[in-house]
Amino acid sequence: MVTVLLPKIGPVMPEVILSVTGLEKSYDKVIAVAGLDFDIAKGECFGLLGPNGAGKSTTLAMLEGMEDPTRGTVQYYGGPLPSDYQTRVGIQFQATALQDFLTPFDNLKLFSSFYDDPIPMDHLIDQFRLQEFLHRDSRRLSGGQRQRLLLALALVHNPEIVFLDEPTTGLDPRSRRDLWDVVSALKADGRTLILTTHYMEEAEILCDELVILSHGKALLQGPPKQLIADAGVSDLDTLFLSLTGETLVKTQEVMK
Ligand SMILES: Nc1ncnc2c1ncn2[C@@H]1O[C@H](COP(=O)(O)OP(=O)(O)OP(=O)(O)O)[C@@H](O)[C@H]1O
Ligand SMILES: [Mg+2]
Repeated sequence: MVTVLLPKIGPVMPEVILSVTGLEKSYDKVIAVAGLDFDIAKGECFGLLGPNGAGKSTTLAMLEGMEDPTRGTVQYYGGPLPSDYQTRVGIQFQATALQDFLTPFDNLKLFSSFYDDPIPMDHLIDQFRLQEFLHRDSRRLSGGQRQRLLLALALVHNPEIVFLDEPTTGLDPRSRRDLWDVVSALKADGRTLILTTHYMEEAEILCDELVILSHGKALLQGPPKQLIADAGVSDLDTLFLSLTGETLVKTQEVMK
């Protein structure tokens, strides 16, 4: 009998795309981010969950390379952020960044013209379902339509990492679910997604890995389901309440 000895293979570890060590950000007397450590795996949806002022947007700005940390580091594949990092990331701009005097079609054309090899416009129009309002005055778009357009604009240069700062705040339940579908499709494309939210349900549905922030510090981090199971509670809201004595906005309340 011939026995073939195969080398033992351990569990395949996901590749770390961004790694944060001792991250801090202070503005004069305000400590916005007070020492964070976490890794983001390639292809996952990573969430920062916390109430107003917890430090979500500030953390995001440092991960995007838009703000320098006061202390600590953000590493990309184990090294410093490369000089072309901005071409590798897509940032969903706030609504104010939209050129309101242009239609969605013209906005897309303008953004595409900034890059040598943009994603074909038809593809983006299809993926983000922009057709129905493509030639409308951008000022007349609903909140959900506007968010879909902003996301399409963030994707024009085919980025590896996509940042979304509270992508569904202010949207009605249908538009919120609609955006969740779009975000899930982006993940299925193999992109790494990093988002902030203060909706527990959103964090639970979308995120593979979550950091719960309060006053610039991580209270807990891990996969949402595991955090809930480990704490022996029914949902993230109960978990947050038990950690801080505070409650976050419940999606159900907003969705009424
Ligand atoms: N440029 C700045 N100058 C001074 N303080 C700042 C600045 N940016 C943020 N802060 C402060 O840092 C803290 C964290 O703010 P940040 O915007 O990161 O919170 P957030 O979690 O995104 O909140 P929200 O849910 O309201 O968007 C807050 O106390 C905020 O006032
Ligand atoms: Mg914010």
